[in-house]
Amino acid sequence: MPILQGKGLTKAFGGVEAVSNLDFSIQERAIVGLIGPNGAGKTTLFNLVAGAFRPQSGRIRFLGEEIQGLKPFEICHRGIGRTFQIVKPFNTLTVLENAVIGARFGKSSKIFDSFDPTPIALDALEFVGLIKEKDLLCDNLNMGEKKRVELARVLATAPKVVLLDEVMAGLNPVETDRVMSLIQKMRDEKEITVFMIEHVMKAVMGISDQVFVMHHGEKIAEGLPEMVVKDQAVIEAYLGERII
Ligand SMILES: Nc1ncnc2c1ncn2[C@@H]1O[C@H](COP(=O)(O)OP(=O)(O)OP(=O)(O)O)[C@@H](O)[C@H]1O
Ligand SMILES: [Mg+2]
Repeated sequence: MPILQGKGLTKAFGGVEAVSNLDFSIQERAIVGLIGPNGAGKTTLFNLVAGAFRPQSGRIRFLGEEIQGLKPFEICHRGIGRTFQIVKPFNTLTVLENAVIGARFGKSSKIFDSFDPTPIALDALEFVGLIKEKDLLCDNLNMGEKKRVELARVLATAPKVVLLDEVMAGLNPVETDRVMSLIQKMRDEKEITVFMIEHVMKAVMGISDQVFVMHHGEKIAEGLPEMVVKDQAVIEAYLGERII
């Protein structure tokens, strides 16, 4: 059964439909890659799912219930976490404090009255390999570490689904491999479903079970990664001369 589904989703800015009558369906515990050229509407789709924007039309179902139009914190409480295309750690806070924020505002905080977010935050830091850095200010971290703080913060919200917006962008090959393994570990050990926007094709090809391709607000292809990269429309719209 799909855990997350969108039907007929549309969101326009001015006259331009950034997301245009789009359908998608994601199976539980899948890793699904979302690719497409700049401006295709990928981040806008995430913003619709995460509640940052309300769709002008269409429905979003998560765990069998409609969630379109809910506020971002309500969607987070239900179990959809996200990271942002432009990394947004709280730079003046420590690594641990950043993870605590995820735990404090996430799903678990709603379940328990007397709720201590620190153990959940520490668990998340352990998971992403940042426990030694827990007392450092985020400002002092390198890009790879900042991205892992983002992953820890989203993990601490106790999500069933995560929306990852270009977590591999700007990382060197070693850091990229590390984040790829982390994403697989999130799925394998924490049973989290992953929907990830990614331009790094090595990562898309390496860990996605399925790939969606967007262009001009529409989904132009979907399927197994090795099939999608051979699709003529995808090559024309996006892959072009990219090295796969
Ligand atoms: N808040 C906004 N206000 C106005 N236009 C927007 C807004 N957000 C996105 N757009 C427009 O919607 C279209 C889709 O943008 P979006 O950021 O979703 O693309 P994307 O696929 O994530 O691209 P990229 O790969 O560059 O991140 C673009 O034309 C963009 O300029
Ligand atoms: Mg984007």
